[in-house]
Amino acid sequence: MVSDREIEQAVAVLRAGGLVAFPTETVYGLGADASNPAAVKKVFAAKGRPHDHPLIVHLAEAAQLAAWARDIPELAHKLARRFWPGALTLILKRAPGVIDLITGGQDTIALRVPSHPVARALLARFGAGVAAPSANRFGRVSATTAAHVRREFGATVDCVLDGGAADVGIESTIIDISGTQPRLLRPGWITPRQLAETLGMEIALPAADAPRAPGMLARHYAPQTPLMVMEADLLLELAASLARQGKRVAVLARAAQQPLLPGLNWIGAPPEAAGYAHELYATLRRLDEAGCDAILVEAPPEAPEWFAIRDRLTRAAAGTPPPEAT
Ligand code: TXA
Ligand code: MG
Repeated sequence: MVSDREIEQAVAVLRAGGLVAFPTETVYGLGADASNPAAVKKVFAAKGRPHDHPLIVHLAEAAQLAAWARDIPELAHKLARRFWPGALTLILKRAPGVIDLITGGQDTIALRVPSHPVARALLARFGAGVAAPSANRFGRVSATTAAHVRREFGATVDCVLDGGAADVGIESTIIDISGTQPRLLRPGWITPRQLAETLGMEIALPAADAPRAPGMLARHYAPQTPLMVMEADLLLELAASLARQGKRVAVLARAAQQPLLPGLNWIGAPPEAAGYAHELYATLRRLDEAGCDAILVEAPPEAPEWFAIRDRLTRAAAGTPPPEAT
């Protein structure tokens, strides 16, 4: 997949202050040496990301935490033992010496030890922290393949490591343990219940519409085509009505029955949450590129394992005006 030589070259790029896109088990990251301000600035410039949106620092192992965080609570070690390497990001108080660019000037820092073998090889070989947001332009759908990264950034990225399609498919769960009560900032594949069980205490959940963290805008992860999320029966009605108006409609549904309508691009979504998450961003990109007038998505189930998927779809839909009554 990725040779030792490519890892060496990527490390050389990081050391020289360049940008390396690399696979993680969640989504691809756009990485820079986290202690090099000029390199980190390039990440913000490439993404078109505002400077008050802090970055996650990726580490090879939990033992490196102390270089980046201070006053590390026992909760952090419990979570690290259970979920690292893996799809969990911890918010902790930042260590002195961490550059302001990484944290958006805040007193906290986001840290994660990813499990993807290519990410692990890169981080171990580099031996220091790699600041990496998701490898997409600001506000757009995260990239889950190397080809998507190249399409987003072209030659702005010095090196793209191709580790195949990201396994999980949506971004890591973020939990803030810098305060008195653990707080979920971003839902992900690791659920609040798993976190609460591991910690033996309740996790505060974000209010549905409250801003959760700097950089967590309501409209995020969004395709360019208007996207709406609704129950299957309403979806069928609306698809039929839009098709009658001569509109080209893309549908992402778990329901098996596909109505025969002109101009309808029907995508059957995987019935299980894991498969659904794995394919979600690639499917949204494909539907976006198909040039439809609207993307209609069947609302996912209410069950806990669908929580993060609902979150991403809600954000993708934010900003789309309700369809005209017909
Ligand atoms: O799965 C992931 O987490 C991917 C892979 C590449 O690791 N990364 C990712 O990074 O999704 P990004 O930059 O797209 O999202 C990071 C989120 C942002 O919403 C940011 O506001 C939040 O983490 N964040 C970073 N530092 C923070 C801090 N100190 N306090 C609160 N939120 C923070
Ligand atoms: Mg992102």
